[in-house]
Amino acid sequence: MGELRNLISIHDLDREQIDEILDVAAKMESVSVKRSKDLESKIMAVLFFEPSTRTRLSFESAMLRLGGSILGFAEAGTSSAGGKGETLADTIRTVERYADIIVMRHPLDGSARVAAEFSSIPIINAGSGSEEHPTQALLDLYSIKKLKGKIDGLTISLCGDLKYGRTVHSLGMGLSHYDVKIKLAAPQQLRMKPAIIDEMKKAGVEVVQVDDVKEAIQDVDVIYMTRIQKERFPDVREYDKVKGRFRIGTEQVELLRDDAIVLHPLPRVDELSSNIDHLPQAKYFDQVYNGVILRMAVLKMILG
Ligand code: NCD
Repeated sequence: MGELRNLISIHDLDREQIDEILDVAAKMESVSVKRSKDLESKIMAVLFFEPSTRTRLSFESAMLRLGGSILGFAEAGTSSAGGKGETLADTIRTVERYADIIVMRHPLDGSARVAAEFSSIPIINAGSGSEEHPTQALLDLYSIKKLKGKIDGLTISLCGDLKYGRTVHSLGMGLSHYDVKIKLAAPQQLRMKPAIIDEMKKAGVEVVQVDDVKEAIQDVDVIYMTRIQKERFPDVREYDKVKGRFRIGTEQVELLRDDAIVLHPLPRVDELSSNIDHLPQAKYFDQVYNGVILRMAVLKMILG
């Protein structure tokens, strides 16, 4: 495959490239345990202008397992960008002098693309506004392939906040490269943008929309639940109308197929009850580990 330089959007990857990343990730399973020195001479900067637990720490864990070093900030308020009004361009032009790659999360749509325009070193988008989260989509695809043995032929439900959730935007587009059926399950107000649905359909994916959680989980191979993105609602009263509407708890469990898997990018609020965590279908914490594996693959492919 052509050299991977930046990872800004899932749109930048075709199926062959996605499959290659998933194959390299599978090889990282053993490297992650033994550790390697492959990226010993490399420094990764993490610039997180928004809260994160898994994305930042799994990138850091991935880099450390490959022998590399890390620096950065986890809170914009401690940087000149947050505290003193420095522009994103100036922040990037500074950090590129300290590191070999930048992993950035930012509240604005388009921010990762802007950063890449100013940067002489590779940029990985670790979440840009409500728009995209490409490495999450890749680790979700990797999780599906690892747990179900394939992606083609599956029926997958994307549930919850399909309007503001960046993970489902990237995952939906990533899945369109495969022969899948997609159920989009969201309250009316939080439906997926028509432009993304059109793109999925154009790619040949059968898409159905439902607004009921029961329909979302019945007769599907993968349930991908998401958090309602409170922080992205222009008006908190709108959030109050939909919160708690989409929930999987013990009452819904009998609707789940025995061989179905339940994934979630996490963090969860109340959309997945902790009462279902012990079920064999509940795979969201396995998915967390796959984040390290997948991010090792991406770092290795860009920097190695
Ligand atoms: C997600 C995100 O930041 O978009 N979290 C993650 O990266 N695993 C999902 C969310 O915040 O709900």
